[in-house]
Amino acid sequence: MLNVEAIRKDFPFLKEGRVYLDSTASSLTPDPVIQRMIEYYHDYRANVGRGIYRASQRATDEFEAARERIARFIGAGRDELILLRNSTEALNLIANGVQFKRGDRVVLTIQEHHSNFVIWQRAKERFGLDLRIVNSDRQGFFNLSDFEAAIDGKTRLVSIAHVSNVLGVRLPVKEVAKLAHEQGSLVAVDGAQSVPHTRVDVGDLGCDFFAFSGHKMCGPTGAGGLFIRGDLQERVAPLCVGGGTIEDVGIDYYRLRRGPYKYEAGTPAIAESIGLGAAADYLSSIGMQNISDHEHALTRRMMDRLPEVPGLNIYGPPNAGDRAGIFSFNVQGMNSHDVALALDSAAGIMVRSGHHCALPLMKELLGVAEGSVRASVYLYNTLSEVDLFVDTLSEIAKTIA
Ligand SMILES: Cc1ncc(COP(=O)(O)O)c(C=O)c1O
Repeated sequence: MLNVEAIRKDFPFLKEGRVYLDSTASSLTPDPVIQRMIEYYHDYRANVGRGIYRASQRATDEFEAARERIARFIGAGRDELILLRNSTEALNLIANGVQFKRGDRVVLTIQEHHSNFVIWQRAKERFGLDLRIVNSDRQGFFNLSDFEAAIDGKTRLVSIAHVSNVLGVRLPVKEVAKLAHEQGSLVAVDGAQSVPHTRVDVGDLGCDFFAFSGHKMCGPTGAGGLFIRGDLQERVAPLCVGGGTIEDVGIDYYRLRRGPYKYEAGTPAIAESIGLGAAADYLSSIGMQNISDHEHALTRRMMDRLPEVPGLNIYGPPNAGDRAGIFSFNVQGMNSHDVALALDSAAGIMVRSGHHCALPLMKELLGVAEGSVRASVYLYNTLSEVDLFVDTLSEIAKTIA
């Protein structure tokens, strides 16, 4: 069981009159994480991997300890975890680092965030890829036979989201990874919406790449990670090269380092990565199962009560058990941004509105190019916040109905 009242005290943003229901966009950051970053700036503010003096050595040790914590959090080895800025950068590294040949097939789904969509459209233009998009039904469910049909012997990579940031549906990643590997394809997972909420083990998932963002899992902005399976790193080029990535350089040659350093050009986000390590510890100490259970209770309450709102169209699976704590909807006759503004001014409720960086899904699957409202819950939300949200939304909807 999770003690939500005690947890809320860790989050300085949660002041009276603020109801934060936008953790899918970015989660809040607790004091223990903020303190670890302040400690860096106060006590050992130096670069990593460069200085021999004690402060620099401590910075290096703390940074590497953070790498180890974050790697452990997703079931990766420390040398398999590359510290980057966010999921978008991690996915770009994959799209530019895998040595594609003209005609290689890459398979995605219609539910991808732009960060796992546009990069492949661009790679198609650059490398002549054969890009295939697997569709789901309107609620977000996939038919595995559609993946079977799309993934053939020429498929070089399948890149799919673990959880949709619009529908909250969980994609059948493990099953798809198995199908892909049977055809000799690599598998990349966009874990931006799974790692913060559920126990992830990259080995169990069977993926070759796994991307995620620290700012969605109680960490700071500017720190995220990419798992690249150890034996694959030889064949995946870095996105940037320069200081930090080099084993040796001469006038007419350079040799890259091995392991994660090859991918981490320039001075990294030191404080932020240390903060992300602290966030992994923070979530682990609460327990990912406790967090999932709590979110499930909030999701049940939300799905039980949302039908009370007049003129509401809710997207995604109807059963609470089939979705993570993400709720996208429209109120008939109202623009999504107007609903979001009304929720904020009426009760300090913060939700996202618009296309959620998933225009292919919004247009092709839901037919709502103009966007939707999206509320989302995390470990610090309460049942009474869900009730306040539904009651306030009902009042807003009644002004139109
Ligand atoms: C599924 C998914 N993938 C990728 C991203 C991009 O994350 P970031 O902006 O942290 O790179 C997001 C952000 O909302 C997301 O939800």
